[in-house]
Amino acid sequence: MTKRAAVIAIDGPSGAGKGTVCARLAEQLNWHLLDSGALYRITGLAASRKQIALDDEPAVAAVAASLDVRFAPTAEGVEVMLEGENVTTTIRTEDVGSLASQVAALPAVRDALLQRQRDFRAAPGLIADGRDMGTVVFTDAEVKVFLTASAEERGRRRHQQLLDKGINASLLALIEDIQARDERDSNRAVAPLRPAEDAQVIDSTELSIDEVCSQVLQLVREAGLI
Ligand code: DC
Repeated sequence: MTKRAAVIAIDGPSGAGKGTVCARLAEQLNWHLLDSGALYRITGLAASRKQIALDDEPAVAAVAASLDVRFAPTAEGVEVMLEGENVTTTIRTEDVGSLASQVAALPAVRDALLQRQRDFRAAPGLIADGRDMGTVVFTDAEVKVFLTASAEERGRRRHQQLLDKGINASLLALIEDIQARDERDSNRAVAPLRPAEDAQVIDSTELSIDEVCSQVLQLVREAGLI
């Protein structure tokens, strides 16, 4: 039997630093990267463009199952192409985040995206970024991390990101929005956001990206993967 490629599953709420940490680890190790949140964002965007009601579960699941999406690695990061259109920036907006959160609560959509996510597993290894990587998609991942941070700190980070783009949002509103999204993601019936039993929890509230990366790399070393 051929051995399956190793997976490092990194789950946690938005704003905990997963995206940056995963991109950095994938580059450093030269492993593949799965941004599973992007698949939910693209599904939300595609369904809304087709004017499908987001509570029409079979119709949204059909969109998820037939997505014409391509992830193209570039020097600046991964470009996301939907039906040949570059939607890399579009899918990062708050509006699309909200569409993603709604479609992610539909079990048929999660089922439709399951195999697509598993197909990212390839040698020499995969860094999987999401909410249910360790609990559902890659239950046999060699390393599982649950990366978290306080809602206040995640709100501050988001605020800074927006300021860097010249957008002045209310910090309080951002924190409240993060808390509401956490609540939805943690309490939904299907694949709720929670650490896998065998996950190592890393709280990044007081840690830099470098410190988080070195803690994860230490776990990867301990697992004998590098
Ligand atoms: O990580 P993100 O902000 O791009 O995720 C967008 C939405 O998709 C967010 O509401 C959580 C959801 N999601 C999910 O339910 N399961 C995943 N594996 C990844 C994201």
